[in-house]
Amino acid sequence: MKTKKLIVDNNVNKNVVYSQAVEKLNAGEVVAFPTETVYGLGAIATDEKAVAKIFEAKGRPSDNPLIVHVGAANDIEKYVTSVPDKAQACIKAFWPGPLTLILNAKPNTFASNVTAGLSTVGLRMPDHPVALELLKMLNKPVAAPSANRSGKPSPTTALHVEKDLEGRIPMILDGGATGIGLESTVVDFTIDPPVILRPGGVTAQMMREVIGEVIEPDTTKMDEASVPRAPGMKYAHYAPDAPVYLINPDVDEVKNAIESIHMKQQKVALLAPDNFQQSEADWFFSLGDSKKLEASAHYLYAHLRACDETTADVILVTVPERTGVGAAIFNRLEKAADGNWWYS
Ligand code: TXA
Ligand code: MG
Repeated sequence: MKTKKLIVDNNVNKNVVYSQAVEKLNAGEVVAFPTETVYGLGAIATDEKAVAKIFEAKGRPSDNPLIVHVGAANDIEKYVTSVPDKAQACIKAFWPGPLTLILNAKPNTFASNVTAGLSTVGLRMPDHPVALELLKMLNKPVAAPSANRSGKPSPTTALHVEKDLEGRIPMILDGGATGIGLESTVVDFTIDPPVILRPGGVTAQMMREVIGEVIEPDTTKMDEASVPRAPGMKYAHYAPDAPVYLINPDVDEVKNAIESIHMKQQKVALLAPDNFQQSEADWFFSLGDSKKLEASAHYLYAHLRACDETTADVILVTVPERTGVGAAIFNRLEKAADGNWWYS
């Protein structure tokens, strides 16, 4: 299959581009498109065969449900049995935006492979002009996970999508680099107080200001049995090829780690804030100013992917403060490292 890349910028006739994407989707095909978080791989959420193509292209386990994207907040009334007041308040405050709400789905609304057989569905309205225009023109709900091969870091550019899925999908809409760089916050609103299943750009603090108490589980203690509601959490994620180790952002600790790796004649890539520039690592990828976590989030996946372009034997990543979007960064790093910390 040839993958067609269509660039959506201000110079081209956008309608021609969107019509081609709409046509593909209506024909039961998948299309990759940018959102404000990461690129998604979309199919019409009521089309079981089209949705099956998402799982196939990604190599995604079929028990991991997909997020359904809508072009207007009002749309969700058609898809769910009820919208609790707290969910409504969060939609008002954060949509369009990086918040996915888990709600009880009306039976037989979506293809069964979208929800992986669950009675609930994850819904979000993305805050990106390309995604919104596509959803508006299509006027149907779109199931879309991140447009990466399963297990790899999510794509934040069209090039990342191409690298992973070239030849496996028919079309990519290239809208440039995504803004946030980490996937949406996933929150279960079928229980009260709501529970954050996956931290993201909408932080626990932001939600507490709107609806009061929200539960923020300690992700380090999450295991399959304790979190049956977050099927995606049990899989390896966001991982480059070389093993990733977490380390405290301590100059001496990092220095010792690099020395001991070099003693073993191995090469090391370091992802860390700017103040680690002078380290002896063989490759250095800057996470920017340690106080500006939004910028770290924006570049994180591109850096993890760039590690695959090096010959590093070991990847060291310093952990951020866990406040605000730092909670989401920490969560993704922990998965990339499969929970492993460096011990010199
Ligand atoms: O920002 C995002 O959310 C991106 C863009 C493309 O919108 N999408 C994304 O999708 O990250 P994906 O499939 O990579 O992650 C979806 C997560 C998974 O962890 C999945 O288990 C969870 O949401 N999820 C989806 N439906 C669910 C449900 N009904 N109950 C519990 N968790 C659900
Ligand atoms: Mg994903």
